[in-house]
Amino acid sequence: MQIDFITTPTADAAILALPVGKGGFAHIHWGAIGATVQTIARAAAKAARFDGETGAIVEIFAGEGDAVRRILLLGIGAATDMDWEKAGGALTARLLTSGATSVTLDLSTLAVAPTGKAVARLAGAAAQRSWRHDVYRTKLPDSSKPTLTHLAIAGAPVGTDEAWHAQDALTKGLSLTRLLVAEPPNVIYPETFVERVLAEVEGLGLDVTVLDEDAMAELGMGALLGVSQGSVREARLLALKWNGAGGGDPSLALVGKGVTFDSGGISLKPGAGMEDMKWDMGGAGAVVGAMKALALRGAKANVIGVVGLVENMPDAAAQRPGDVVTSMSGQTIEILNTDAEGRLVLCDVLTWVQTTHRPKTIVDLATLTGAMIVALGSEHGGLFANDDSLAAQLLGAGKATGDLLWRFPLSPAYDKLIDSPIADMKNVGPRGGGSITAAQFLQRYIDAGVRWAHLDIAGMVWADKAGATYDKGATGYGVRLLDRFVADNFER
Ligand code: BES
Ligand code: MN
Ligand code: ZN
Repeated sequence: MQIDFITTPTADAAILALPVGKGGFAHIHWGAIGATVQTIARAAAKAARFDGETGAIVEIFAGEGDAVRRILLLGIGAATDMDWEKAGGALTARLLTSGATSVTLDLSTLAVAPTGKAVARLAGAAAQRSWRHDVYRTKLPDSSKPTLTHLAIAGAPVGTDEAWHAQDALTKGLSLTRLLVAEPPNVIYPETFVERVLAEVEGLGLDVTVLDEDAMAELGMGALLGVSQGSVREARLLALKWNGAGGGDPSLALVGKGVTFDSGGISLKPGAGMEDMKWDMGGAGAVVGAMKALALRGAKANVIGVVGLVENMPDAAAQRPGDVVTSMSGQTIEILNTDAEGRLVLCDVLTWVQTTHRPKTIVDLATLTGAMIVALGSEHGGLFANDDSLAAQLLGAGKATGDLLWRFPLSPAYDKLIDSPIADMKNVGPRGGGSITAAQFLQRYIDAGVRWAHLDIAGMVWADKAGATYDKGATGYGVRLLDRFVADNFER
């Protein structure tokens, strides 16, 4: 979607949107719109019980000479940044496949002008809500195809351009994440994940490291490779480093689970719903999307994003329940369930990033446990942290962006539950507290003194209903959270 910032609406703006705050009808400055049309608009609003609620829309068609103009009253509620964002998404949702190709939003009608940041949030959301993945739909009827390609915003305040630059970067990062998540698992597997990402971040100034299976075997990544050994697809580790604060060790590492398909392995999942496991790389998708956004907006921080990419398949060569593997850290793991593979991938990636880059803070994102969905549904991601200040920073970024998080406990009592009689640990605990024991497993790979948080985003990366800034399907959860977390806590 093309976004333009203009001074005043052009006379030929056939579709005009006017923002209305809650109860704010009296404050609308109707501009060039005549008294008759105003009366119709008020009557339509009343009939629809519209009162400027965030994202609510009333649409009228008004005659102007021989022409007809389409006018949308767009609710912006209390006009917080989040309200503006929701309104932007709602505007696109209404018009995307409506036949309309262009809409003009007139901000000069407002009594209180929004900030540049608020306008940028609206514009970003409008663009983000237009994202779709139609590449495999060859028979989509014309009437279902998106038509809206252009949003003009009239009367945006000074400072919008700069804020928009950052939102545009975020939007592009989100698109990458959603694409990777939405693509089918025969198309996106470890090697093609890397190819796609490298094509998308080329020229942005990120330092790229790719490890193949030989390199990972050399490093002793027996846990990650154990998961991969049942697949004909080769595993990869991909690292993207952004030196926005001048280089040196990154202060922050973002780590993502990238299981491009999770069949469960020999501990095979039931057939129903198994196709969902194409998005078991949503953590990795969020990490690379966030890295793209950081690079595009020139974030003044040193951050590394590392993703472990494998496919978990049953095969004659697949690992068995009962196998014992040795991780890169030297710790041994008894595999009790080959479907608890995410932690096996992450533990070696965590060791690798700490050994090679010494970050002081690590945040990992993973669609790690079904138990997380049982606990939180699809409203919050689960947060586990060994440090209260880090937890507070992440919770704050979640509230500010709408990528909400809810904190869960860690403790030695939970940790004990994954002790193994034959190895240092087992890869599953008892049935109860499954998300917590998974987090405890990861914590065993965190070096002393490192601030670490684990985000279990199993319920968040895919949506069966549309949200404010996304349609059904891939949400891009985590990208705006990480972008904000970096902006608020790691940039000078
Ligand atoms: N990728 C799954 C977790 C998952 C399940 C994410 C459903 C999204 C929706 C993970 O690899 C897994 O299979 N976890 C097991 C762990 C269990 C064997 C301890 C689970 O949650 O059932
Ligand atoms: Mn699994
Ligand atoms: Zn998995």
